[in-house]
Amino acid sequence: MYTSTYKRIESPVFDGTKLPVRVDLAHADLVDPRHVLFSPQAKRKDEIFNQRFFADPSIPIECGKLVMEKLPQEDVFVARLLIKPKDRVVAQLPEELSWVTPFLQRCIQYEVFLTEGKMDYFWYLTVRHGSTSLLGNDDVWHCDGFQSMHEACVPRHRPERNYVWTSEDATEFNLTPFFIEHLDSAKYNAHLHFQKYAVESLTVKGRAQNVLMFDPYQVHRRPVMHEPKHRTLLRFSAIDAMIMDDKNTQNPHIPVPKFNRLDIRDTFVQDVYAGDSK
Ligand SMILES: [Fe+2]
Repeated sequence: MYTSTYKRIESPVFDGTKLPVRVDLAHADLVDPRHVLFSPQAKRKDEIFNQRFFADPSIPIECGKLVMEKLPQEDVFVARLLIKPKDRVVAQLPEELSWVTPFLQRCIQYEVFLTEGKMDYFWYLTVRHGSTSLLGNDDVWHCDGFQSMHEACVPRHRPERNYVWTSEDATEFNLTPFFIEHLDSAKYNAHLHFQKYAVESLTVKGRAQNVLMFDPYQVHRRPVMHEPKHRTLLRFSAIDAMIMDDKNTQNPHIPVPKFNRLDIRDTFVQDVYAGDSK
């Protein structure tokens, strides 16, 4: 049985009595997003999630350098905070996170371009601002947004997009082709396959203090660190289906019900291929 080792970090509680911060592009530090037009990520964005795309490795898209001048003194950990439902066009942030606005403006600019103004995705924000010793096991090869065929999961839908900014030690990507088209994702954990078969020499490093965009078919990790250090990671996710996880940080301005769902990571058998002992 696969047992999840991901550490759970207490989420902050935001003050819902203050007005939400609205994110708009009026004062954004604009970067031309047209260079994404012919990227693999743009071409496959409207195709329902399909495991065959893992055989086509690709590099992340650089959405430009971004200097974040107002990083807070104290640690901040926010897990998948919903900042915009699918049917709205305005993002709403708790006031305590207003310092993230320049990052969000950059991401939203690309989303407006890619969705031709529709922005018909749920938007989530993750913040990890503190010691890497407090983080989970994201220093192993994995992807963000794998859509399992497990019966507890929602039906497959369009792939998500993730935009990541790191203060240092930028995210690493692996360009190994992974042939998992026929992997039974209801039974096996694809991430174990990535970790086992990723070729280390096919690693490329992103640039810190740049916004990097990637989709679920791009296997990546936080660089392996031998000593814990202070690091900031900001992640904006545009997702076709709501993340029904009670461990998400709650946005007082966009309340969601309690979901009481199963963590399917605890239901997987140990290895990807039965009988494979390599
Ligand atoms: Fe990740």
